[in-house]
Amino acid sequence: MDKYNYGMVGLGVMGRNLLYNIADNGFSIAGFDLDEEKVKELQDGATSEMKVKGTVTLEDFVSALETPRKIILMVPAGKPVDAVLESITPLLSKGDIVIDAGNSYFKDTNRRVADLASKELHFMGMGVSGGEKGARTGPSIMPGGDLEAFHLLQPMLEAISAKVDNEACTAYMGKDSAGNYVKMVHNGIEYAIMQLISEAYDLLKRGANLNNDQLYQVFKEWNNGEMNSFLIEITRDIFHQKDSLTDGSLVDQILDKAGAKGTGKWTSEQAMEIGVSIPTIDIAVTSRILSAYKEERVQASQLYAKNEIATPENIELFIKEVGDALYLATLISYAQGLALLVKASEEYQFEIPLKDVVKIWRGGCIIRSVLLEKFYTAYSKDSNLSNILLDQDISVIVKDKISSLRKTASFAASNGISSLGIQTALGYFDAYTTESLPVNLIQAQRDYFGAHTYQRIDREGVFHTSWQTATH
Ligand code: 6PG
Repeated sequence: MDKYNYGMVGLGVMGRNLLYNIADNGFSIAGFDLDEEKVKELQDGATSEMKVKGTVTLEDFVSALETPRKIILMVPAGKPVDAVLESITPLLSKGDIVIDAGNSYFKDTNRRVADLASKELHFMGMGVSGGEKGARTGPSIMPGGDLEAFHLLQPMLEAISAKVDNEACTAYMGKDSAGNYVKMVHNGIEYAIMQLISEAYDLLKRGANLNNDQLYQVFKEWNNGEMNSFLIEITRDIFHQKDSLTDGSLVDQILDKAGAKGTGKWTSEQAMEIGVSIPTIDIAVTSRILSAYKEERVQASQLYAKNEIATPENIELFIKEVGDALYLATLISYAQGLALLVKASEEYQFEIPLKDVVKIWRGGCIIRSVLLEKFYTAYSKDSNLSNILLDQDISVIVKDKISSLRKTASFAASNGISSLGIQTALGYFDAYTTESLPVNLIQAQRDYFGAHTYQRIDREGVFHTSWQTATH
């Protein structure tokens, strides 16, 4: 009996869809899940052209695969991954490859790589983005780890991934857990963009009194131009969705408490750990936390009633400015996430190819946008760019939109409309583009009370001063 090319552990919607995608592309694949019902669903949903086999014991699953075995895990991050590894590794042979396609924490992946290497097995972390639909029709795939093992998977990954200009949205992301790291940062940027879009929505809704039909039109127009992206596109559609339980739009019935599974938080923690400034991503994480204080917010809104919002005189112009502000703040969020990847690549010796990262984010993933095309051009010119804001062509866009970002931030601030993402994007930009920051004073204070020393602008060395207490 012919052995199967690939194996998939975890047949939830993501696992099953990815499996069918692999089978659609002519590869044979066996699936395993502890839940026999899911195995049955897999068999029932497969077409007659697909070479698919469902298994209910790990022994059957492992023995159905050709060697070296190539086993993809699509199980929840954390303990479930370790549990699968514990039961499957004794059944594997030297050279077999286990690929974790979930949103695993990169440090867990490093530990697992070392653990499996001690058993002469390969373990790889592989980010997959695009949700359930993407998994089925073409996601963006971010594999990292052992290069030889990657080469064995490459033809399949290129076949199943999304395509932009006939180029596959998958590439080798670097050593060790680089695949998980890149996916984590992808999600951090995703959090920032979603935060910014929600703020633009609030400004248009409360600032310009647009209703959902008008919001639909605005997002439609935005999506048809330079702001074309997956997140703008689905936002457009959300404004069109009627509620099945009431007469209105569904979006108006959704409680304003945002959930989170943790990848955004990891991105912020990582940036703090290795010393990279990503304030718009940080604020997006913390805004979701703040949103959960619903009851307190209700109480505070009564205590601190706000003045009526001063509707802008020229609504058309206001909408354009909010659009430009959103575009630029989004660009700045990508800049922060990409800068984190640059530093992480050095810190952990991942050797992440930034040019390939933006290339494979152009399609399939949640943060896909036409803007990434411009980043791809920038990294094609200079693959060592430390921050995308330093690119000449990008600076032309920034200069064109910056006054809209300032006006929008100022409108929000003066009308008491919370716009944490927009404000931090602007604040980051202003700090990043300031030659002399006022932190000379912070250094003086640190030296004053703690003898922490300081450097000078006019000579080399480290200095400490016995600061004098002013007597009057
Ligand atoms: C993707 C998504 C996916 C998932 C997010 C949701 O790229 O396909 O990012 O990985 O939907 O992790 O994250 P939160 O639940 O934390 O918003």
